[in-house]
Amino acid sequence: MPHLFSPIKIKNKEIKNRIVMPPMVCFGYAGNNGFVSEKNIRHYEARAKGGAGLIIVEATCIARDGRLASDQLGIWSDEHIEGLKRLSQACQFHGAAVLIQIHHAGLRAPRDVAETVLAPSRCSEYIDDNRLVRELTVEDIKTIQQDFIKAAKRAKEAGFDGIELHGAHGYLISQFASPITNKRTDQYGGSLENRMRFAVEIIRQLKEFADENFIIGYRMGGNEPTLENGIQIAKILEDAGVELLHVSAGISSPEFPQPEVPREFPENLIVYCGTRIKSRVNIPVIVVNGIRMPQQAEYLVENNLADMVAVGRGLLIDPDWANKAKHGSEIKPCLACKRCLWYTEPDKCPGKD
Ligand SMILES: Cc1cc2nc3c(=O)[nH]c(=O)nc-3n(C[C@H](O)[C@H](O)[C@H](O)COP(=O)(O)O)c2cc1C
Repeated sequence: MPHLFSPIKIKNKEIKNRIVMPPMVCFGYAGNNGFVSEKNIRHYEARAKGGAGLIIVEATCIARDGRLASDQLGIWSDEHIEGLKRLSQACQFHGAAVLIQIHHAGLRAPRDVAETVLAPSRCSEYIDDNRLVRELTVEDIKTIQQDFIKAAKRAKEAGFDGIELHGAHGYLISQFASPITNKRTDQYGGSLENRMRFAVEIIRQLKEFADENFIIGYRMGGNEPTLENGIQIAKILEDAGVELLHVSAGISSPEFPQPEVPREFPENLIVYCGTRIKSRVNIPVIVVNGIRMPQQAEYLVENNLADMVAVGRGLLIDPDWANKAKHGSEIKPCLACKRCLWYTEPDKCPGKD
């Protein structure tokens, strides 16, 4: 696997291989109020020890009322820094680079987190129970942007090699980017440039304090809501100064057709979008979704279809995925049983010891 195990330099950071652990929330692991627990540390440490070059710690919330679940990890207070520092150090000790995904759920905050949800627009058809939705004022927007900046500063203080803005999967940043959930008529809505203003203003402020050792990553929807739009979003992010793009899914809707994946392309739609975006930008791109076997990952890097490849559920079931790939040892396969998915106990993964 010569390509998968070649190093890559992002800013000043040399990452030892192209294997990424993508962010995956471990429900039930964090302590009260989003504090890092021993279980969180052991979970990431095992994947770093198992050889993954880059670990992106799960969606960690920048504001109490923006959590996607009441047991989500937090980075909204200086008090979170100490536990997060132990987590970053545990990964770096084993030679992994480590970013942390910073996040706000917007419309998708559950009732036990926020009685009234905050969103770009009053898009109540997008949430499944009768919740009050408050359209963010410009003042609210500035406050949440500052919450992202403060969270990134805490991540830097906690020793992370950078942050990843969670701009995918229909959470707040994605809700701004998407014409499906953003119906604003001010400077934060309407044209794509306006819809991206929320994110771009955050990125510009991050650039003011991020030195050469601190990476600014962004997870975006490759189909937000179309691939053409995804490509435009990627270019806007590149121009704004994002240094690492991670292409996953956006908010889709039947009104917006999905791209046809060519028959000869060996992976799924999400990976395809990532590879198309990779061909249109000059910053490193991580692709993800359904990549289970080292040969799949090697093919994508070898053919310059991706700079890095994220292996999510594959690394949940087998923390040693990367080292086993390197030595040609047998990897425990993900059984696609979905027991690791939302709001369930990650320990139910049948491969876990
Ligand atoms: C249990 C679980 C939790 C997840 N949590 C997050 C998250 O915190 N942030 C995020 O951007 N994606 C999250 N995802 C999506 C993964 O990062 C990844 O994109 C997805 O699992 C597809 O990759 P895979 O087929 O390699 O698992 C999660 C996925 C799983 C299975």
